[in-house]
Amino acid sequence: MSYPASRPRRLRKTPALRALVRETVLRPADFVYPLFVVQGRGIKQPISSMPGQMRFSPDLIGEEARRAWDLGIPAVLLFGIPEHKDAVGSSAYHKDGVVPQAVRAIAKAVPQMVIMTDVCLCEYTDHGHCGLVEKGEVMNDATLELLGKQALAHAQAGAHVIAPSDMMDGRVGYLREELDDEGLDQVAIMAYSVKYASAFYGPFREAAESTPAFGDRQSYQMDPANHYEALREAVLDEEEGADILMVKPAGPYLDIVRSVRDQTDLPLAAYQVSGEYSMIHAAAERGWLDLDRAMAESLVGIKRAGADFIITYFAPRMAALLK
Ligand code: PBG
Repeated sequence: MSYPASRPRRLRKTPALRALVRETVLRPADFVYPLFVVQGRGIKQPISSMPGQMRFSPDLIGEEARRAWDLGIPAVLLFGIPEHKDAVGSSAYHKDGVVPQAVRAIAKAVPQMVIMTDVCLCEYTDHGHCGLVEKGEVMNDATLELLGKQALAHAQAGAHVIAPSDMMDGRVGYLREELDDEGLDQVAIMAYSVKYASAFYGPFREAAESTPAFGDRQSYQMDPANHYEALREAVLDEEEGADILMVKPAGPYLDIVRSVRDQTDLPLAAYQVSGEYSMIHAAAERGWLDLDRAMAESLVGIKRAGADFIITYFAPRMAALLK
């Protein structure tokens, strides 16, 4: 049937009609809130390139997690910024490192909250790469051992979900075995399965002080031009025992979100990264976009593309808007 018999505008007439036929609905439980933890006490330090985001010391992070929980957000994802960086990222696997401290603080402040931790060395190495470097090259297999130690430190502190973002080959299977060997078989793995070498991580690297001192991440993160490789990465992580897959960034990769969603039975996360967040803020500051509308539209688009949940710095703002 076509015009004039078919008139799609009929169902757009009133808010009630539109609500009735709406296909995708956001809820606070769709969001994971990423948080940056720094060593120290009493620190709540704004991140200039990410308006509204802060670095928190472990003693103050429980309060922020509580605020998110009270808005209906079920989970946080923690990134650690240590005091000391070295070539092997040794602060990453201290039992009492900055992330383990934050995990314990959040578990105490909000016992029901899901605590996820990012597992990767780039915030802990002085060269800023995600693994061990030898002769200018990031070493795959040697890095796995260090990631294993980091994952154990997080899980033993009480993290519920370990999220490896390093993009080394075989790390999901390796971490699964390490966790199981230590009796941590209930700790889930959310794999950054499809992580592109993206310009949109810029503000994060300022926040986490993790810009590589030389070169770039193209030898381990994916080429933005590739689609089928994403499907292969997803299959590998699934076979290695991932519980949740992730696509990152989200907005420029909605086709990938859809394809991975259609391929896997596992839950799929999408990460709306720092650059996506900061772009919307920057345009809104100039009066070029309406912040809340652009935020909501970007998030509904990611969910419509197939994400089961979204990791986003907008989590508290969007949840508050939904309330
Ligand atoms: C690496 C990591 C990065 C992000 C999450 N984990 C940065 C990178 O790979 O350079 C980026 C997140 C964001 O931009 O919001 N550990």
